[in-house]
Amino acid sequence: MRRTEPLRKLVRETTLSVSDLVYPLFVTHGKNARNEIVSMPGIFQLSVDLLPGEIKEIAGLGIPAVILFGIPETKDETGSSGYDPDSIIQQAIKSIKKTAPELLVITDVCLCEYTSHGHCGVIKDGEVDNDATLDFLARMAVSHAKAGADIVAPSDMMDGRVKAVRQALDGAGFEQTPILSYAAKYASAFYGPFRDAAESAPQFGDRRSYQMDPPNIREAMREIGTDIDEGADMVMVKPALAYLDVIRRARDTFNYPLAAYNVSGEYSMVKAAAQQGWIDEQQIVMEILTSIKRAGADIIITYHAKDAARWIV
Ligand code: PBG
Repeated sequence: MRRTEPLRKLVRETTLSVSDLVYPLFVTHGKNARNEIVSMPGIFQLSVDLLPGEIKEIAGLGIPAVILFGIPETKDETGSSGYDPDSIIQQAIKSIKKTAPELLVITDVCLCEYTSHGHCGVIKDGEVDNDATLDFLARMAVSHAKAGADIVAPSDMMDGRVKAVRQALDGAGFEQTPILSYAAKYASAFYGPFRDAAESAPQFGDRRSYQMDPPNIREAMREIGTDIDEGADMVMVKPALAYLDVIRRARDTFNYPLAAYNVSGEYSMVKAAAQQGWIDEQQIVMEILTSIKRAGADIIITYHAKDAARWIV
């Protein structure tokens, strides 16, 4: 059954489709800005005025959704540029919805891109204050929904945030806006290049007091279970490749749409090796994305989405 491609195709168990993919976008302030991220070749910070061209390309490739990250002009202690109605993400959502109304806009709800200290929550006595952060996250989610976001995705890993976001959305008339929860998000070194891209590295300490400890899998199931109980409509495991077992366990445990985030460091490693001529980029990318789907993900967030959309036949 392996002798020819038609035979292999007949018995193939996993098929990757463009409709599984979500493409991340970094939106920056200013005009005519297209800054390539050094550690992520082919990925750019784009200013809002340059979004229409990019969005037409993405929609034209059949990619169903983008997830947005903002690089605001100003940052402060509580990340107020994250929920200001005229801030970067709010402008970006409006622009995208004008260019391609059908393209789903997912927004990352987290303080780290907007706080002067770079942590995902507000700081009290040198530590992230879980409960005090919830109100800011809820405000940010509502401001994204008001601007036209289709799905909000809290990525901060505070306890109780899904409930806080759900209540705030419902209270503001956004009962229909789904929540994609970054439910099992590990404290991973694979986020390094993203922090260059989003300019969101913590200025002191690290994220291990709120993101998950990589050796734990039972805890990941608890995190996902809690988020579902609090009202998450879809859940995510992140990163993907070093956590395929977590994706598989989540798929077998919960009957909810499951996303996996093929994160920045995973992308950078492939790009670096490909640039050296050490690997075949196309084959490696397709193998990686297929493995994430085979592990059980329904939705794959990946910086390779545009390339993969061209390669999927
Ligand atoms: C925000 C956030 C991060 C990523 C997505 N949302 C960074 C972090 O937690 O430090 C990482 C994405 C990637 O590495 O591609 N908290």
